[in-house]
Amino acid sequence: MIVYLNTEFLQLENAKISPFDRGFLFADGVYESIRTYKDRLFRYQEHLNRLKRSLNEMRLTYGETDKIENIIYELIKKNNIEGEALIYLQITRGSSFPRIHIFPEGGINPTIFISATPLSINEQEQREGIIVSLQRDIRWLRCDIKSVSLLPIVMANQSAIDAGAKEAILNRNGKITEGSHTNFFAIKDKTVFTAPECHLILSGITRKIILELCYQLEIEVKEQFIKADELKTYNEFFITSTTKEITPVIQIDNWVVGKGKSGELTIKLQNAFRDLVNNN
Ligand code: PDD
Repeated sequence: MIVYLNTEFLQLENAKISPFDRGFLFADGVYESIRTYKDRLFRYQEHLNRLKRSLNEMRLTYGETDKIENIIYELIKKNNIEGEALIYLQITRGSSFPRIHIFPEGGINPTIFISATPLSINEQEQREGIIVSLQRDIRWLRCDIKSVSLLPIVMANQSAIDAGAKEAILNRNGKITEGSHTNFFAIKDKTVFTAPECHLILSGITRKIILELCYQLEIEVKEQFIKADELKTYNEFFITSTTKEITPVIQIDNWVVGKGKSGELTIKLQNAFRDLVNNN
């Protein structure tokens, strides 16, 4: 496997970073997960804009963002990926010694790491849906930044898996914010509900596509928090992300949603999403 690290394409085993890298010491970095459809990066400009925003919010100047797209295509080629690819990209505030919390004096040399791996969609999950588990949202208050500081997510996701679920859905003081690495949607009375864009959720690229599709299909949308104690008043649920696309949710903890099958509107949105990516 060939990866990209700080200006070089390297065999994975030769890709090394300093233990004083601030990403390693402080999780002082941000990331993006991007994918291809039909060999072309999907919604690349939106991912790049979100990356730039994350960098800006963490006050990191990275001057080479316009080179990233070509590097990614080169990386896909070098890895001979047939079919779709998942791109992971991380930028940190580089390494500095001694270990001090404040920004290093005298400028920084950011670390950039990019990998490309084959990606296939889980057809069964798409068709049959998944079980999710409600977990407390104990993250910081800047979930709009795609930070690599993911310990609360690791813990929530593991607890969900331990409970026999596939994804953790996060509950912050009675409000459902999002999934551990997905956005969360609920449907009732033919209206789609999802948390509003704010500091408590990541503004998902797939989430935005759902809003576009709802607009085109004339499905009403309400960007408002779904309350945890009102979950049972909704008829359909799904999660979205770059890798999970639109995945139906058929059970929340022990509660089976409806007949335990994907809902009608969820399937309609999945079909519209498939048409959209087929035109990528
Ligand atoms: N996760 N919310 C969170 C907390 C996420 O981490 C993600 C993405 C999303 C969905 O965003 P998008 O539709 O732009 O993929 C929502 C990526 C896939 C990851 O963790 O690798």
